[in-house]
Parts: sequence; C-alpha cells; structure tokens
Amino acid sequence: MKIVCIGGGPAGLYFALLMKKQGRHHDITVVERNKPYDTFGWGVVFSDQTMDHMRHWDPESAQEIQQAFNHWDDIELQFKGQVIRSGGHGFVGIGRKKMLNILQLRCEALGVKLLFEQDAASDLDFPDADLVIASDGINSNVRNRCPEVFKPDIVNRPNRYIWLGTHKQYDAFTFLFEKTEHGWFQAHIYKFDDQTATFIVECPEDVWLAHGLDQADQAESIAFCEKVFAANLQGERLMTNARHLRGSAWLNFQRVKCAQWSHFNGHSHVVLMGDSVHTAHFAIGSGTKLALEDAIELARQFKDQGDEVAHIPQVLKQYQALRAIDVIRLQNAAWNAMEWFEVCGQRYCDQLAPEQFMYSMLTRSQRISHENLRLRDKNWLEGYERWFAAQANLTAPVMAGHSAPNAVPPMFTPYRLRAITLKNRVVVSPMAQYKSVDGRVGDFHLMHLGARAMGGAALVFAEMTCTSADARITPGCPGLWNDAQQEDWKRIVDWVHQETDAKIALQIGHAGPKGSTCAPWQGAGSDHALPEGNWPLLSASAQAFLPNGQVPSAMTQQDMVRVKNDFVRTAQRAVQAGFDWLELHCAHGYLLSSFISPLTNHRQDAYGGTLENRLRYPLDIFTAVRAVWPAHLPMSVRISAHDWVEGGMTPDQATEVARAFKAAGADMIDCSSGQVSVQQKPVYGRMYQTPFADRIRQEVGIPTLAVGAISEADHVNSVIAAGRADLCAVARPHLANPAWTLTEAARIGYTAVKWPAPYQSGQPQLEAAFARERMLQSAGRGD
Ligand SMILES: Cc1cc2nc3c(=O)[nH]c(=O)nc-3n(C[C@H](O)[C@H](O)[C@H](O)COP(=O)(O)OP(=O)(O)OC[C@H]3O[C@@H](n4cnc5c(N)ncnc54)[C@H](O)[C@@H]3O)c2cc1C
Ligand SMILES: Cc1cc2nc3c(=O)[nH]c(=O)nc-3n(C[C@H](O)[C@H](O)[C@H](O)COP(=O)(O)O)c2cc1C
Repeated sequence: MKIVCIGGGPAGLYFALLMKKQGRHHDITVVERNKPYDTFGWGVVFSDQTMDHMRHWDPESAQEIQQAFNHWDDIELQFKGQVIRSGGHGFVGIGRKKMLNILQLRCEALGVKLLFEQDAASDLDFPDADLVIASDGINSNVRNRCPEVFKPDIVNRPNRYIWLGTHKQYDAFTFLFEKTEHGWFQAHIYKFDDQTATFIVECPEDVWLAHGLDQADQAESIAFCEKVFAANLQGERLMTNARHLRGSAWLNFQRVKCAQWSHFNGHSHVVLMGDSVHTAHFAIGSGTKLALEDAIELARQFKDQGDEVAHIPQVLKQYQALRAIDVIRLQNAAWNAMEWFEVCGQRYCDQLAPEQFMYSMLTRSQRISHENLRLRDKNWLEGYERWFAAQANLTAPVMAGHSAPNAVPPMFTPYRLRAITLKNRVVVSPMAQYKSVDGRVGDFHLMHLGARAMGGAALVFAEMTCTSADARITPGCPGLWNDAQQEDWKRIVDWVHQETDAKIALQIGHAGPKGSTCAPWQGAGSDHALPEGNWPLLSASAQAFLPNGQVPSAMTQQDMVRVKNDFVRTAQRAVQAGFDWLELHCAHGYLLSSFISPLTNHRQDAYGGTLENRLRYPLDIFTAVRAVWPAHLPMSVRISAHDWVEGGMTPDQATEVARAFKAAGADMIDCSSGQVSVQQKPVYGRMYQTPFADRIRQEVGIPTLAVGAISEADHVNSVIAAGRADLCAVARPHLANPAWTLTEAARIGYTAVKWPAPYQSGQPQLEAAFARERMLQSAGRGD
C-alpha cells in the first residue's frame, strides 16, 4: 500500500511507524511543512494508560519516551495566599519536541520516508497514494477543502490563552490564579523535563481586551504575564517558542468535531486523524492521547481486517465507529473542564474559599467524583471533609449518641435555613401521585410520605398541591383550599413530626395550561386532556400545551386577583397544617411558568414582553404568599432554568429570574428544567441540571437545590462538597427505595446515621453486607 501522512505531529508519525512495522512492504511517507526540530509548544501530558497502549504497540519508541518522561502525582493550587496540594493524580509529561524527535527517529529506522519543509496544499497532491492520512492538525487543509464531506462543527471559545515555557522548577501540576484590576488570570503549569515547564496563561476575552493585550506583541505579552505571576515566578523568566505566529500569540481554543472522518477523493482514500478531526481542550490535556490512540486504532483495524487496498473502506468505517465513542466521552469531559476555566473568574474565584475552590477545580470535568478523590488521596479528602463539616457548623446535638469514626461525608452535614435545621443534604423531590379524591390526601399519602420521612432524607416534599379545584393537573391531584383538606394534611405533617426527625415541605402550584388532564396511566396519559369532565383552563396566553390540547384563556386582571388570593389562602392553610417549608412552583409549564417563558407568554400588557414584565405576576404571587408565610420558615421557588428550546428560557435568563426572586425574599432556588414545550430537546446525563444550580448559587448568591439524575451518595457528596448546590433533591430513586438515604449511607460505609428505633436491627446487617461488597471490590482492584 502507498500511504502518505500529511502532517508530522504525533498522529501522523505514530501511525506511519505502526503501519511500517506491521508491513515493511508498505510505502509510507510523512510530509511535514516544518523543519525536523522546529515545532511550536512546550510539553504535553498524558496518562499512564496511554503509555501502556504505546508499550504494547511499539515497545521501542515507548521505552525511549518513558526514559524522557517526567512522572508526577500531585496537583497544587496557589490561590489567595494559600498553597493546597493533593496527590494520586498520576500524570506523565514530555517535551513535544522530544517526543516528535523520538517518533521521527523511529520512523526513519523502520524505513518511513520523512519529507520536511514541504507544504501540502491538499490530499490531491498525492494522486498515486492508496491512502492519505490527514494528520495536518487543527487547521487541516484536507478537512477544510471538503467541508460538505467531513461536516466539521467548529466552535470558537471565548477565553484567550498563550502557551509559554519557563525554567522555574515545579514538582506538581500547578495552578495559579491572580486577580488584576480588570479580572482574573490563571496559569496551568507542568514540568516536562529537568529544566523546563509548560506555562499556559488564560483569561476571558474582556479581561484580555481591558489590558490591551490585543495590541501587545509577544515580548509585551510575556512581560505582562511575568508581572501578573511575579509572586510565583520570583524573578524567573517566561519564554515563547511560537515566533512563527505573527502579531498576538494569544489564541482562542477551537473545539472541532466532524460527522464524517473519511472519503474517497477520486484517486485515494482520505482519512482524518488527531486534531484535524477532533480537539480536546488543554484543561484535561488529552489532545496528544487522542491523536496517538487514533493512530493505534487505525493500525489495529488494518492488522485485524487485512492491509490490502481492498480492505480500506471497511477499515476506515470501523475506525470511525470505534474511535468516535471514545472521542465524544473525552470531549464531553474536556468541555466541562474548559467551561470551568472560562467562568471561574466570575463564578468561583471571588466566591469560594481556597479549600472549596480546590475541590471544585479537581472535579471540574465531572468525571472525577468524591470517591475517586478518596482513592487518589484519602488524607487530603478527609481533611477537606473535616473542613467542610466545620463550615456547615456540624454541632454536637446532630451527632449526639453516635460515633463518627470517619470524617463526615458532605451529604451528611446539617444545613440551616431561617429557623429550620435539616439533618443532612438529601431532599425527597416533589412527586405527583394522582391518588387524591376531591383534592384530599388520605392513607396512601400518609404511607407514601411517612415511609420516605423514615428513610433518612432530611426534607420530604409533598407533591404539587393545588390552590383551587380548577388549579389541579388531574382529578387525582391534591389541593389545599378547604378545611377537610387542611385536616388531612395536618394528620400527615403531625405524623412525620412525631415519628421522625425529617422536616416536611409543601409545594404549591396551579396547573395552568396543563390542567384538566389524565394521570400517566389513564386514558391517553400525562398532559392529554381528560376524555370528559374537563374544566376551563387559564394561562398567560391562549396557547395549548399539546398541539391538539385544550386551549386555555389568557388570564384577565380579575383572574389574576382570584388566583393570587387562592395562593395566599393555601399558604395560610399550609401554616395551619404545620408544614416546615413552602415552595412556589414556577416551573414545568404550569401557570406561573407560563408567564415566565417567552414560549408560552405572548401578552402585550404589563405581564408580557420583557423578562421583567413576564416575572411580574409570579413575583406578585410570591410576595403575597411570603407575607403570610411565617418569617422563621424557609420558602423556595422551583424554576425551569432551561426550556431546551431555541428562543426559550436559557440559563442566562434563569440567573435573572433567580435574582428577582431573591430580591423578593426567596430563600432558595430549586433548579429544575424543561417541560415547558413539547419541542424541548434536553441533554440528559448524570446530574444534568446541577450546572444551573451551581451557576445561580455562585452568580446570584442565593442557596440552591439541585435536582435531576442525582442517584448515588457519590453524586450528592460531589455536588455539596464542590458548593454546586446546598441541597440535593432525589426523585425517582425514592420511588424504588423510600430508605434511599439510609441505604446510601450504608453503601459508602457511613455508620453515624440514625435509623428509626424500630428498624435499628436492620442497620448493622445492611452495613456489614455493604462492607463486604466494598472489601471484594477493593480486592478486585488490588488496593
Ligand atoms: C496550549 C496547548 C496545550 C496543550 N497541551 C496538551 C497536553 O498537555 N497534552 C496533550 O495531550 N495535548 C495537548 N495539547 C494538544 C496537542 O498539542 C494536540 O492535540 C496534538 O498535538 C494533536 O496531534 P496531531 O498530530 O493531530 O496534530 P499536530 O500536533 O498539530 O500536528 C500537525 C502537524 O501537521 C503539520 N502540517 C499542518 N498543515 C500541513 C501542511 N499543509 N503540510 C504539511 N504539514 C502540515 C504541522 O506543522 C504539524 O506538525 C495542547 C494544545 C495546546 C494548544
Ligand atoms: C412520578 C413523578 C412525579 C413528579 N411530580 C412532580 C411534582 O409534583 N412537582 C415537581 O416540581 N416535580 C415533579 N416531578 C419532578 C421531580 O421532582 C424531579 O424534578 C425529576 O423527577 C428529576 O429528578 P430525578 O432524576 O431524581 O427523578 C415528578 C417526577 C416524577 C418521577
């Protein structure tokens, strides 16, 4: 086979040498526009795992690379005068030049032709090649020549960065954060040989512009960075080796992904590899790893399927199918990590103490969880847990009668809001049961809520409870508009207070355009109009939720007064029933949400148009309710922080919504999303709504409740420890297991939780079973 690799970076060189090794008869050329020893950049890092793969595929080059490696374990943060270090992170670093030179020599030894200082205009320059590898980096000519084939999706990110080096010695992967008069700068530093470290400086575009760095040449930029990080550099110099870049050397990261990785150009098969087909932000340092692993996979496919020309189409298809999965996983993690560094100046640097800032930074990609951190550095994590517990005012009474052999996991720290102290951070999220008759709750609800109140969660939410008969979603929804309903609720609340140490919350709401519909298991199912017995609906505008659904009337001033009074009376009854906490439901497309979202509010009056106008009625209700809800008790607001529809509410606007409710006296924002429009396209995943809670908490300065796919203690611990939310609501897992919190405590080996007295003989048994499971797992891991 005749193979040409355009671009002699890690991808092109490594693929060339692997293929030549597999079949000496192949005619392989690498075409590189630079000189052999002329490259940009300093050091790169990659994981021990990539090294293992390289050892398997070419022990000779792996051996040399390994000798030139610098291996280190620690991550160090220098921030606000503190130095915090945690271990067990396992990186290897090598100079980019050094690595390329090793690969070049190995290519030559195997008989690969290396053509330097030759700029390839396109893949068509090599018509007699059977296979052209487009390993020509992020600005790939080959990819750019055929955008309709490769369908590249390229996103330009807002931060600016400059890739520098220094001879100052660092013995850990070091992060520095420095505040200037215009904002925060950060440096990512890692050593890659005995004398040199990579020193990447990064900042937001507005900060960069405010300092005039767009006008600065490389020397001026370096002088500027030396000044910003002078306290750390202590006279050591920063250096550039990107002299080939004209003008400013500050770049924007571009995230590249492609729908198609290969095609036939009429003469040769062409395939993209490395940065030409995908990029990963340096915040998780994986670009070189991806490039090398692409090369390995393509070589493996030729080995497995045969390396004749006839096999090329099948090999290329399989290569993309397999690599695309790994790449998307890594790109997602890199994206989270990148975003963290993009927003840290506005969201974390000023808000978080150095200890919590470190935790937030270490878990930025959301790939590393609380328990992963424990495996990496148990001492550091336990130290952090103790620090966190101290911040949460973990006081003796909460732990009375219990021995706490380990540090307290963040999930089990108490939390106080107004006069209410919750014993831990777990909340049973409101879940409609559709089991009421005439809006009354009965034995079903006593059993349902009672079981969950005994199950270890600190706060149990009752389902959305309606302010009038016509405010219900379905005929099975509960209400609180008459004395009988108030007595029913009081029976449940009293039971929870007498028999458990959980608190109980009521969520009040009005179904609006989603009213008069079926329960999920009845008729046409959720959101579909009742087959008969419908009642008239109200909404911000006369727009049905489902395309063929019942059309509500746009609320008149008179309707608004009536509904507001209903909310107030329900809140007064909630006080009489003895609830500890009240939540106003302003999410999921129900009445108050229909005012907030531009997708459902088309009013022309003072309640439509701008966000300020759209918030007017929900805020009016909030204020009226807050006025009758006791000052010593908390009141939260549930919002849909993202409509997941073009033109709908976005997390940016959700921040403004939260700000407005905070100003009106809300104590906490319960950050849900969606269910406002049938057009929604949510991006689900573990803890997928937590970023909204995080953003609102940091940027608005109001406590938040995170909810959505939080299903393990490890998730709760990570969210709470990083300060992404104050509480975590767990819904569906509580349907499977009312004692979810007690079970999770036993699973992670935290024994200082109090089980209900009659259940206590079950505690040691469950704890022993999980302890055995953990032991087997760690034996399997070889810990
Ligand atoms: C600031 C920064 C820090 C980074 N840190 C890390 C890190 O710590 N760890 C990590 O793994 N990765 C890191 N990366 C990413 C890493 O550098 C790339 O992902 C990796 O080099 C990709 O390898 P590649 O072979 O695909 O492309 P490249 O390394 O970009 O190689 C492409 C080659 O093609 C040549 N070329 C381009 N066009 C032509 C043409 N027309 N004709 C001939 N030759 C051509 C170029 O000169 C170049 O040598 C970092 C990147 C940046 C910007
Ligand atoms: C059966 C069921 C009923 C629900 N009813 C309500 C409700 O009454 N009010 C509300 O705000 N959210 C309601 N939700 C949404 C949940 O409170 C929660 O936000 C959602 O299920 C995501 O959390 P999870 O991933 O832990 O299930 C309901 C969810 C389920 C599964």
